[in-house]
Amino acid sequence: MNKETQESLQNIPNHVAIIMDGNGRWALEKGLPRLSGHRAGTENLREVIEACAEFGIKYLTIYAFSTENWKRPKEEIQGLMRIFKTMLDRELQNLHENGVQLRHLGRLDQIDKELQKKVREAIELTKDNKTLILNVAFNYGGRDEILQAVKNIISAGHSVDDIDDEQFAKYLYTSESPDPDLIIRTSGEYRCSNFLIWQSAYAEWYFTPTYWPDFNKEELRQALIVYNQRERRYGEVKQEKER
Ligand code: IPE
Ligand code: IPE
Ligand code: MG
Repeated sequence: MNKETQESLQNIPNHVAIIMDGNGRWALEKGLPRLSGHRAGTENLREVIEACAEFGIKYLTIYAFSTENWKRPKEEIQGLMRIFKTMLDRELQNLHENGVQLRHLGRLDQIDKELQKKVREAIELTKDNKTLILNVAFNYGGRDEILQAVKNIISAGHSVDDIDDEQFAKYLYTSESPDPDLIIRTSGEYRCSNFLIWQSAYAEWYFTPTYWPDFNKEELRQALIVYNQRERRYGEVKQEKER
C-alpha cells in the first residue's frame, strides 16, 4: 500500500455491510440468463471477504436474499438456493482456514431443509474463529426482524420500563454484532430495501454504479477512502478547536 493510500485509510470501519445488487443486470447486459449473474456474484465473494480481513475490518454483513425476494419467479429462487449450496460446499473450508466465523441473520426455518442443514453445520464448524465475523443475511428483512423482536419481547414478559435501545437490540438477529459503520450498495440503486433498518441509524452509506459481480478489492478500497473523508457527528456539534 503506498503512503497516500495508507493515510486515507487510517480509519477502518469495524463493521461493513454490503447490499450485493445488480447480478441480474450484469447478466442481462452480457446476454446471459439471470442465474449466470447470481453465479458470477459468488465468484468475487472470496476476494471481497479476504480483502475485508486484510484491511482490518472485523465484521462483514452481506445481504444475500431478502424476505421480499420470494416474490421472484420460482426458477430463479430454486436456482439461487442451488447456487448458495454449491458456494457453501466450495468455500467453507477456505473460510474456516482463514479464521472466518459464519453467522446467519434472518429466518432459517423457512428455507430449503438441505440448505438449512449446511448453514447450521457451517456455523458450528466456524464458531470459534476470530479473524472476521461474516454475517450472511439470508431470508432477512428488517421489518420482519423488528416484528420478531417485538413478539419475543412480549413473550419474555418484559415490562414497558425495561425496554430501551440496548434491550431492544438484544432481540434483533444482529444481537452479537455492533451496528454497521459503513453500508455499501452496488448497482447504482439508492435505497435500503429493508436492510438493517434499525442498525443503520448512524451508518455511512456508499453507493457505486458497479454491478455486484464486478465489485472487488479495489472497489472496496475506494469505498473505504470515501468513508475516511466523512465526518460522523451523531447529532452533535463539533467544537471549533476540534476542526
Ligand atoms: C442481487 O441481484 C441478488 C439478489 C437479490 C438475490 P439482483 O438479482 O437483484 O440483480 P438486479 O437488481 O435484478 O440487476
Ligand atoms: C436487495 O436487492 C436484496 C439483496 C441484495 C439480497 P433487491 O434487488 O431485491 O432490491 P430492490 O427490489 O431493487 O429494492
Ligand atoms: Mg436487484
